[in-house]
Amino acid sequence: MLTLRYQNAMSAHVGSGGLSDRELDAAVKAATPAIRAVLHGRARLGFAALPYRENVLSKVEAFARRVRGRFKNFVQIGIGGSSLGAAAITGALLDRFHNERARPRLYFLDNVDPEETASLFERIDPSETLFHVVTKSGETTETVAGMLVALERLHTKVKRPGSHIVVTTDRKKGFLRRLAGEQGWRTFEIPANVGGRFSVLTPVGLVPAAVAGIRIEELAAGAILADELCSRRDPRENPAAMFAIISHLMDARRGRPIHVMMPYARALREAADWYRQLWAESLGKRRTEGGRDVCVGPTPVVALGATDQHSQIQLFVDGPEDKLVTFVTLQRYRRDVYIPSSVRDPAADFLHGKSFTDLIVAEQKGTEAALAAAGRPSMTVELTQVSPRTIGAFFFFLEMATVFAGRLYGVDPFGQPGVEAGKRAAFALLGREGFAAGAAEVEAAVAPDPNYVVR
Ligand code: PA5
Repeated sequence: MLTLRYQNAMSAHVGSGGLSDRELDAAVKAATPAIRAVLHGRARLGFAALPYRENVLSKVEAFARRVRGRFKNFVQIGIGGSSLGAAAITGALLDRFHNERARPRLYFLDNVDPEETASLFERIDPSETLFHVVTKSGETTETVAGMLVALERLHTKVKRPGSHIVVTTDRKKGFLRRLAGEQGWRTFEIPANVGGRFSVLTPVGLVPAAVAGIRIEELAAGAILADELCSRRDPRENPAAMFAIISHLMDARRGRPIHVMMPYARALREAADWYRQLWAESLGKRRTEGGRDVCVGPTPVVALGATDQHSQIQLFVDGPEDKLVTFVTLQRYRRDVYIPSSVRDPAADFLHGKSFTDLIVAEQKGTEAALAAAGRPSMTVELTQVSPRTIGAFFFFLEMATVFAGRLYGVDPFGQPGVEAGKRAAFALLGREGFAAGAAEVEAAVAPDPNYVVR
């Protein structure tokens, strides 16, 4: 279902840009206690318990059955981990043009772009819309703002606005939990020990998936299968451990801090965005868990095959030797298109009788080979196909890899102090009670200095 192939990260295949067997052996040996320590403490990993919560799956499914067919639109209001996982599931498992063909249409309000927000609310009729408001903390500015607009539109258009809102938030804490309680809104919970970017298999991602008709029990089943793979104590047998060890080694010892995720499937584009947040926010840290200043973390980059062969591959093949590429490939695509032979010309003849699957497979292999020939290392995660099961497995594999990598970097993958600093600064500028003191400092940091302005 999910296989990690890393031969092209090895010097035997790509020359000195790769790792020698001896180097990798030493890294695996050194990492083994860290991998085992994570596995030993597995019971404390909140996200790892999620696929086993059958009661939550049934509650979400029951809710989805009630609302499916009642609404023409489903709008998820949330940002970061409260949006990206949901977009990854639906992006992978619904038709690319779902909104043109099927109901409910799905929208993600994950920004405070005024034009996009205005346009979304213009496009949807609130009386035909279900709003899923998602925030773990219960008070993220962007999400609260979006919810207030939705609420106001509902009040002007429908008799029972509450029947158009469902909330997913912390069980006890936060403004949204209080408000939902006061208003009697339907709510789902994010467990206290599951942070935003690890919450894809909570109602954060399950509600939109189930409402759209995706088999959420299959997502969980896939995660459980990946759990078996990623709980193996021998790192050499554990794909998440090997992914983490190689990625960490390439960054920390081989000067390759840029980690590119390049799926060869449009359906996995949003899943790559989700990985980008997971890898960046979890591993990019100023301090180790012990409090030592280190400022570490790889920089994740997303590229889409074959499209971005025509935008980024030139840089990956010939530019600085600072990247490790991970291809995500499929054994089977769910649909295919055959290339007709209506025009005869050497530029087209070789395509006759081939399919788009032949094409995309050849393009991926060609790119991997070109990177290898240029001494640029890569790994490949192969999924049998895109399905709820493999997507659930892919999420779980990357979540475990992130926790293993966190341990190797010596950082806590679950906090995000850097994000919190930005949130506090925005509160200060917007005059939120208790935060105003920082406003002058923020304004001073961004006030234009005429010495450094070009007009
Ligand atoms: O992974 C995280 O914790 C963050 O990306 C959060 O998901 C993001 O900041 C949104 O926070 P919240 O869910 O509290 O609104």
